[in-house]
Amino acid sequence: MDLDTRFPAISDLRARAKRRIPHFVFEYLDSATGREDQHRRNQSALADIKFWPSILDGEHVADLSTTFLGREYPLPFGCAPVGMSGIMWPGAEKLLAKGCSTVGIPYCMSTVATVVPETLAPFIGDQGWFQLYMPKDKEIRSDMVRRAKEAGFHSLILTVDVPSESRRERQRRANLTIPPKVNAAMVWSMMTHPEWTIGTLKEGIPSLKFCEDYAKDMEATSVAHAGHVIRGNPTWDDIAWMREKWEGPLLVKGIQKPEDAIRLMGLGVDAIWVSNHSGRQFDGGPASIECLADIRAAVPDAPIVFDSGVTGGLDILRALALGADFVMLGRAFHYAVGALGAKGPEHLVQILEKDMRSCMAQIGARDLKGLSERLFRPAP
Ligand code: LAC
Repeated sequence: MDLDTRFPAISDLRARAKRRIPHFVFEYLDSATGREDQHRRNQSALADIKFWPSILDGEHVADLSTTFLGREYPLPFGCAPVGMSGIMWPGAEKLLAKGCSTVGIPYCMSTVATVVPETLAPFIGDQGWFQLYMPKDKEIRSDMVRRAKEAGFHSLILTVDVPSESRRERQRRANLTIPPKVNAAMVWSMMTHPEWTIGTLKEGIPSLKFCEDYAKDMEATSVAHAGHVIRGNPTWDDIAWMREKWEGPLLVKGIQKPEDAIRLMGLGVDAIWVSNHSGRQFDGGPASIECLADIRAAVPDAPIVFDSGVTGGLDILRALALGADFVMLGRAFHYAVGALGAKGPEHLVQILEKDMRSCMAQIGARDLKGLSERLFRPAP
C-alpha cells in the first residue's frame, strides 16, 4: 500500500482510525468539551496565521533539526501524552514509543496510560518524557517519578490545567469506563471492529495499570477525566516541592497566561508548555496559539513547548514562528496508530516533515530560526 497516496494528510489517518476503532473508544480520543468551540478555535486561529511567500530564492534544502533542553532532535515535534492510549489501538504506547525513538523524537507517556513505565523501558531509547498528574500523597508521587526515572524517562511534565473534571459530553454519551463496563452497543461495536477487538484481547483488557499500582481497589470509573482517579489538586507549593525532588528537566504543561509562565520560571522550572488541553477541559478560553506570543514576550529566555490544534506541518511552523521551540501532537499520533498500527507513527512523522519542508521552501526558510520575520503582517 502506498501510504503517501492513500494517507497524505492527518485527516486521512483520522478517517481510517475512525473506521477501525470502536465508536465508544474513538469518542474518547477525538472529543473535546462543551460545544467544542475551543477545539475549533485552536485550529482556526492557527489557520489564520500567514507567512509571506518568497520568490527567486535559489535552491532549498531545509534543516529541521533543533536543540531543546540540551538534547538534539532531527525534527522539532513529538508525541504528546494521551490518557488511555492503549485502548485506542492494541499496544499503542509501545508502538508510539518505538516509532518516536526510531526517528529520534520525544514520546511522552501519560500517568493514565494503560502500561507502567517499566513496560516502555525497552522502547523509549533516549526519547522518554513522562507526564504526571500529581497525586495528593507525596509518597505516591515520589514513587511514581522514581519509577519513571529508573525506566529511562528523563524529562518530567507536570500537567496543571485540570482543576477538576470537565463534562466532555461526547465521552459521556459514549459511556466508556475503564475497565470497560460492556453493554450491548459496545459488544456490537467490538464485533464489527474485529482487528481492534482481537488485538485488545491479546494485549489484555486495558486498564490504568500505573495508577492501579497505587490505588488497587480502584473501581470502574467514568473516563470523563481519567486523571482524577488518583489526582490531587496541586498548588504552587507542589511545583516548588517537585522542583526540589526532580533533578532532570521539569516542564509544566497547560499554561495560557504570561504571569503564570513568569511565576513558574521563578520557581525554577525548565520549560513552559503552552496548551489548553486541546479543548478538552474548558470551552470558553482563548485558542492555545493566541496565548503563545505574549508568553514568549513575558519569558523571553524560557524554552517553550506548544500543543493544541496542530493539524499538519504548516501549523508546526506557525507555532515556531510565534515563539515555540518545540511542538507536540497527541490526537494525530493516535489517529496514526489507529489507522496503520506499527507503521503509523513513522508515516505521520513523514507527513509532518514533508509538509514542513514544502512550506519552508515556499516562504524561503532554510532552518527554523527567524520564522517570525517571515510572518505576513499587512500594513496597518
Ligand atoms: C484527557 C486526560 C487524560 O484529556 O489528559 O483525557
